[in-house]
Amino acid sequence: MERLQKVLAHAGVASRRKSEELISMGHVKVNGKVVKEMGIQIGNSDVVEVDGVPIYREEPVYFLLNKPRNMITAVSDDKGRPVVTDLFTNIEQRIYPVGRLDYDTTGALMLTNDGELSQLLMHPKHQIDKTYVVKVKGLVDKKSLNRLEKGIVIEGKKTAPAKAKILSSDRTKDVTMVELTIHEGRNRQVKNMFQVIGHPVEKLKRESYGTLTLDGLQPGEWRELKTFEIYQLRNSAIQEETTK
Ligand code: URA
Repeated sequence: MERLQKVLAHAGVASRRKSEELISMGHVKVNGKVVKEMGIQIGNSDVVEVDGVPIYREEPVYFLLNKPRNMITAVSDDKGRPVVTDLFTNIEQRIYPVGRLDYDTTGALMLTNDGELSQLLMHPKHQIDKTYVVKVKGLVDKKSLNRLEKGIVIEGKKTAPAKAKILSSDRTKDVTMVELTIHEGRNRQVKNMFQVIGHPVEKLKRESYGTLTLDGLQPGEWRELKTFEIYQLRNSAIQEETTK
């Protein structure tokens, strides 16, 4: 048995708080009857509908993908380009990506059908650490690294403190490899941060997502998460709320 608002959140309908609003506004029916009170317990045989559309409650599943280049982080694309869920042909659950990586970005991307965890991980208050390995044009100096770490103003808003370190630099090729850890998830954030400091990004890879690393995964490969990894992600998201 699970509380109604949790069932809606797990099905990816909305966050738990938004689901409560939907319930109190009379959008939700259980076994054909509108239910407006919170906390009603739902069993496997109960039929839940939101605005007349039945909610299918699937077993939650969790995956880590090493996203290859030239693939859209979405479940479909109106221009017919390849999308990340194309790589999960034998998975019957309706999974979707948690957050996004650009078309040309590679690396760690989580996919799930657990709407509640997904909302938790993506909530601006909870966002967990993401580490990127970035190849940029030019030789990055200490001062520029400091600017990345302290925060850069992008579209009028300063980025949150980050961690940055130089992995290597190549004078002849005029490129630097930088490791950058951020916890926000603004659109094209890493590329924009480097653009502002005058070092356009040439290649971008997400090495880790929270405690999840790409170990053992080639681009295009994925694996199912272990139970303890799901706990770790949930816990680190909740801890971020209290520390950031
Ligand atoms: N930041 C970017 O600029 N692009 C990504 O794909 C991820 C983070």
